[in-house]
Amino acid sequence: MEERLITSSKLIDDEQVEYSLRPRFLREYIGQDSVKEHMSVYIEAAKSRGEQLDHTLLYGPPGLGKTTLAAIIANEMGGNLRITSGPAISHAGDLAALLTNLNPGDVLFIDEIHRLNPAVEEVLYPAMEDYAIDIIIGKGPSARSIRLDLPQFTLVGATTRLGLLTSPLRDRFGIKEQLELYSTEALKEIIKRSAGIMNFDIDDDAAEEIGSRSRGTPRIANRMLKRVRDFAQVKREGIIDLQAAKDGLDMLGVDKLGLDATDRKMLGAMIEKFGGRPVGVDTLAAATGEDASTVEDVYEPYLLQLGFIARTPRGRIILPAGYMHMGFCPPEEASTNAVE
Ligand code: ADE
Repeated sequence: MEERLITSSKLIDDEQVEYSLRPRFLREYIGQDSVKEHMSVYIEAAKSRGEQLDHTLLYGPPGLGKTTLAAIIANEMGGNLRITSGPAISHAGDLAALLTNLNPGDVLFIDEIHRLNPAVEEVLYPAMEDYAIDIIIGKGPSARSIRLDLPQFTLVGATTRLGLLTSPLRDRFGIKEQLELYSTEALKEIIKRSAGIMNFDIDDDAAEEIGSRSRGTPRIANRMLKRVRDFAQVKREGIIDLQAAKDGLDMLGVDKLGLDATDRKMLGAMIEKFGGRPVGVDTLAAATGEDASTVEDVYEPYLLQLGFIARTPRGRIILPAGYMHMGFCPPEEASTNAVE
């Protein structure tokens, strides 16, 4: 992965801390109760039959723990985890090399699996279905295809966009689980667990405050926890109480519900620029300086969950709660003229 070429010592430290915060077994995993319950049944059943776990597709917004769950699946099944991503596999040969190097029982994790190119995807179908790949040897009339057997493995695919997966690929996953945004209560527990692993104290109500401002996302909760700890260390003699958490989060520009400057820019544009009319995602992206997929994957899920915006066939609309959070009075009747 290209990002790993950035080798400042701070980044490596942060990465190592982030890695150490990840739960390694299902029993340590907080939240996502139905996913946990389903996976524990499927894992136990596969193990007791001495079989591989079926190929598993995890979908949901970024930062909810899809990679962590893949690692847990590998640990629980007693296999190794190999991590790659859709955009990192540019040629069919790259995937063939990856697959032929797997050991029996390994878990191959493909993040952003919706971004696999079609030629690569073709290789995946027989690999998933028959644990085999077909390789073409030679060129022209003398070219022939040979079938290579693969070790039994489990593919764990992750995507933020189920709708962008081709149906042949989607249909080849025996297990499909949706990860949802976490409750404040679950995030509070995750924050307390992380503080324990990083070896510092945090008051319960401070953990709850950070949890409630983390947009339902453990990755954000853990990042904010670290920044609040920095704030408390420099400004509050290291004590992370409710006031320190509030002041630290205010300093980060995160409001009471966890909205940041981009969320507010988006809601502000929907009210002031577009007058509350339905607006297309590309227009919203242009108004906020983000790209459309970031608006859809990162910003919208939380605003939808809060009931601040809604998706309609004509575009996104802002709802009364969104107006009120931004300090505006909602109009009597929402206008339905779309902004192109
Ligand atoms: N750290 C990040 N996500 C977590 C989770 N779901 N449970 C426990 N710790 C976590």
